[in-house]
Amino acid sequence: MSSELFNLNGRVAVVMGGTSGIGRTMALGLAEAGADVVATGRREELVNAVADDIEQRGRKALRRSSDVQSRESIDALRGAVLKEFGRIDILLNAAGQIFRKPTHLVTEAEWNKLMDVNVTGMLRSCQSFYEPLVESGRGRVINIASLNSFVSLLEVAPYAASKGAVLSLTRSLAVEWAPRGVNVNAIAPGVFRTELNSGLLDGTGRGRELLMRTPMKRFGNVLELTGAAILLASDAASYITGQCLTVDGGFLASGVNQ
Ligand SMILES: NC(=O)c1ccc[n+]([C@@H]2O[C@H](COP(=O)([O-])OP(=O)(O)OC[C@H]3O[C@@H](n4cnc5c(N)ncnc54)[C@H](OP(=O)(O)O)[C@@H]3O)[C@@H](O)[C@H]2O)c1
Repeated sequence: MSSELFNLNGRVAVVMGGTSGIGRTMALGLAEAGADVVATGRREELVNAVADDIEQRGRKALRRSSDVQSRESIDALRGAVLKEFGRIDILLNAAGQIFRKPTHLVTEAEWNKLMDVNVTGMLRSCQSFYEPLVESGRGRVINIASLNSFVSLLEVAPYAASKGAVLSLTRSLAVEWAPRGVNVNAIAPGVFRTELNSGLLDGTGRGRELLMRTPMKRFGNVLELTGAAILLASDAASYITGQCLTVDGGFLASGVNQ
């Protein structure tokens, strides 16, 4: 009975930014829970590789690259998924970028690009997939937020603003779409070493400080995010919407921890 609550058999998931790091791990987790999964991003070779991994888990996949900066490419992806599978039940938005720079030196072009990927890209995806998610009858949106949605991390102001907006967009859509049967939640990962942040973490004072501030005294393993994604995609979360689930080894709960 309880395992049925987390069973995603028969569902179709689309994972934007599902070809690397957190999105890739969550895409494979959704497949292991029973979903057919379309994991996408810009780089075709990564799209093909993650599709192979999904199929190795006995689920169906679709090899289709996309760019969240292009509404046309997202709409084309939606069309291809509907043609192949006939439905879309879960949209997981993990596409994201970051850069570190003192805020007084950040150009408007840099700011706009980051916001366009991290926030407007998420909005484009949510808008494009809205109708099929409603038609699903139990549509789910899972947006990837950040510790930076809640607290400042030095010299990543555009990223922080984008992740604050992710949380706000999550709440707004949750309220608007609840009457249509679509649950919209966020997951805020703590620090997980991936392609996105390895340059910021490896051998740096910042990396050491983040560890010091994490009560568990280690970075997360991306596999430790799988359960949160499956939960929010599943029937176990049928009455959860507008929430942000933080998976951070205790970081946000911590004041002084030594
Ligand atoms: N790692 C952490 O500790 C951490 C903590 C909190 C939140 N997050 C968030 O988690 C999400 C995933 O990050 P990650 O650490 O897993 O980074 P990652 O390994 O660099 O993965 C980023 C993913 O997004 C895709 N992507 C980037 N720009 C895109 C675009 N314009 N259109 C479509 N896809 C795009 C990438 O594929 P292509 O480059 O091929 O397009 C890749 O699949 C991000 O939203 C990030 O902000 C990460």
